[in-house]
Amino acid sequence: MSKVVVMDHPLIQHKLTMLRDKNTGSKDFRDLTKEITMLMAYEMTRNLNLMEIEIETPICKAKSKVITGKKLGIVPILRAGMGMVDGVLQLIPAAKVGHIGLYRDPETLEPVEYYCKLPTDVEERELFLLDPMLATGGSANAAIQFIKDRGGVNIRLVAIIAAPEGVEAIHKLHPDVDIYVAGMDEKLNEKAYIVPGLGDAGDRLFGTK
Ligand code: PRP
Ligand code: URA
Repeated sequence: MSKVVVMDHPLIQHKLTMLRDKNTGSKDFRDLTKEITMLMAYEMTRNLNLMEIEIETPICKAKSKVITGKKLGIVPILRAGMGMVDGVLQLIPAAKVGHIGLYRDPETLEPVEYYCKLPTDVEERELFLLDPMLATGGSANAAIQFIKDRGGVNIRLVAIIAAPEGVEAIHKLHPDVDIYVAGMDEKLNEKAYIVPGLGDAGDRLFGTK
């Protein structure tokens, strides 16, 4: 069974509170989403492998460490996942970026696919799937399946807020995918919005309604 990691770093929790607040406007919402994602990426990359290389400082030759091992890839689920991309790229500028276009049909709540473009070497990469909201889990499950169908094997899901129903749905279909969240919320409401949540992430990021 995959693990669920709730990132309780005080900076993440403080920014999450501001993100949830209905009085936070789109510009601040975008900035906070980026900052939270950056802090989450910092925590999640703690176990990357290092190797020693030789360099020359202005003073002398020295051995020093650089990251080695699998290359990284990030895959935002459009639209709201776009708000998380820059936060990861700020720390890992060499990561390749794929995109998966999905929206949740408001009537059926089923994910509807409209775009998928992934790095060609997706099978060789450690992949972070980005979406701020894990509600029923339908969108994330479909996105994980797209990635797997195209050869991706090493996938981690990064969501800012999750509902227990969404976590359960991922565990059921994709037990190999670890889930990282900033907030683990109480439940879904009758429209499958996360409670207390933050409302509609895509609308708040992009100022639509
Ligand atoms: C939101 C969110 C997730 C999905 C979560 O996207 O960004 O992708 O809903 O819900 P689920 O877990 O029940 O599938 P939405 O469908 O509103 O599309 P948008 O990002 O284009 O606004
Ligand atoms: N999508 C959102 O943007 N918010 C929710 O609470 C659930 C799905």
